[in-house]
Amino acid sequence: MKPLAILFATSEMAPWVKTGGLGDVAAALPAALHRAGHDIRVLLPAYPALKKAFPTAPAVAEIPALAPGLPACRLLAAQDGGLPLLLLDCPALFDRPGNPYLDANGDDWTDNAIRFGLLSRVAALIGQAASPLAWQADVVHCNDWQTALAPAWLHYEGGAASVVTVHNIAFQGCFGRDTLGVLGLPEHAWRFDHVEYHGQLSFLKAGLQLASQLSTVSPTYAREIQDEHFGYGLAPLLRHRAGDLRGILNGVDTGIWNPATDPALAAGYAANRLAAKRANKTALQAEMGLEVCADRPLFGVISRLTHQKGLDLLLTVGAGLAQLPAQLAVLGSGDKAMEAGFRELAERFPGQIAVRIGFDEGLAHRIEAGADCFVMPSRFEPCGLNQMYSLRYGTPPIVRATGGLADTVVDVSADTLDDKTANGFVLDGDTPHALWVALERACQAWHDKRLWQRIQQNGMRRDFSWQQAAADYVALYRDALAPRH
Ligand code: ADP
Ligand code: GLC
Repeated sequence: MKPLAILFATSEMAPWVKTGGLGDVAAALPAALHRAGHDIRVLLPAYPALKKAFPTAPAVAEIPALAPGLPACRLLAAQDGGLPLLLLDCPALFDRPGNPYLDANGDDWTDNAIRFGLLSRVAALIGQAASPLAWQADVVHCNDWQTALAPAWLHYEGGAASVVTVHNIAFQGCFGRDTLGVLGLPEHAWRFDHVEYHGQLSFLKAGLQLASQLSTVSPTYAREIQDEHFGYGLAPLLRHRAGDLRGILNGVDTGIWNPATDPALAAGYAANRLAAKRANKTALQAEMGLEVCADRPLFGVISRLTHQKGLDLLLTVGAGLAQLPAQLAVLGSGDKAMEAGFRELAERFPGQIAVRIGFDEGLAHRIEAGADCFVMPSRFEPCGLNQMYSLRYGTPPIVRATGGLADTVVDVSADTLDDKTANGFVLDGDTPHALWVALERACQAWHDKRLWQRIQQNGMRRDFSWQQAAADYVALYRDALAPRH
């Protein structure tokens, strides 16, 4: 079949700009589609990290001001391996230090509607006859609210087919009514079944309403977001578009997350060479100031510290860990109260509980390898990458049965051990007590070395490569391109 011309529009991309899983997906999925022979280009803002990584990237298009509130900008062309990148260069909007969405105080940049309005507008433009490049996309693939407004222009003005992928429905990009004119959208877009959402303009709602096809990052989350509890107000719309919505489970970039070759580790290991994993535990204990010992399990956490991740449950029961006995290593940042809570816990149990507040890619790899068991009791989890990294690293995860966690983690039981699918521990309920019971079960299983090895190997042998997901996205693009009935 004919290769597709795909524009993948994103607000982050690893390794340069990453606040969470979207950064990893934006690096791995386009690369997989590129390997499959498609003509794919990634559009993202020319943040300082990208300017630094590609200092000589030539300008390939000058784009004039497209609306009263949108400044003129340019596109720079770069290559990541063989993958073409289009960097949206507008220093007034993107040349800022730190987080792509938040200022130094942790508040949203006040001009986010303009910043990501421009990103969405340019994404749409590259899918239109007026594309500023000698290239026009057949499909514009938008990710989360930051690019989800692109389908609006494609809907009103014509152009490429569009796809919106929801990585997290809790973030919806809602701004005042005046944003409509500021971004140059037509007055008639102000309808509840177009871009209007409770008196505001919602980027995500607009995309979910107007894109040709929709997806999210796991089959379970695709069902959950049609339910009031998980849909954050958008469930009725998603039920209305259920026929155009599918769940495609994310993969793992096996080049970066491979315990046999990971350069961040003290020792490489594999499913049939698990003994070498021990050296990573010793190294992690030393690095984090934990007592170096082999007689108790070490639980690991790597996370944004937010309500979504459910780590308040761990704070509630954390004081019991030292008595189990077990150790805990936490890496994360976010909610200030939660950061303080983990710091306090570490101060109370020196040598048994250690916490690093911050974002540290190398340490994340060393925790995946050095911990015995990974804790991720999310309240909702569209896909979740960390539990998949844990499975690959022989570090069985403890999770709640939600979203992608439910689609990847199989609770240890007599049946699942028999059929070789048991690979982790699933909470029975959403209370601190449920987490405590799971921690105790994991601890007990860990002391049975043969049982533990079976659980580890089941997880390590599961295929999480991007190949299948990439094929599913191609099918989604072809459906988006098919004429509507
Ligand atoms: P989410 O995108 O909701 O944060 P995911 O599990 O999909 O959750 O992806 C999180 C990604 O961000 C993983 O690659 C994880 O390793 C990384 N990550 C999260 N917090 C940190 C941190 N403090 N330091 C390093 N990496 C982190
Ligand atoms: C979001 C979700 C996470 C998912 C990631 C990548 O950040 O919270 O569950 O894995 O996007 O799709």
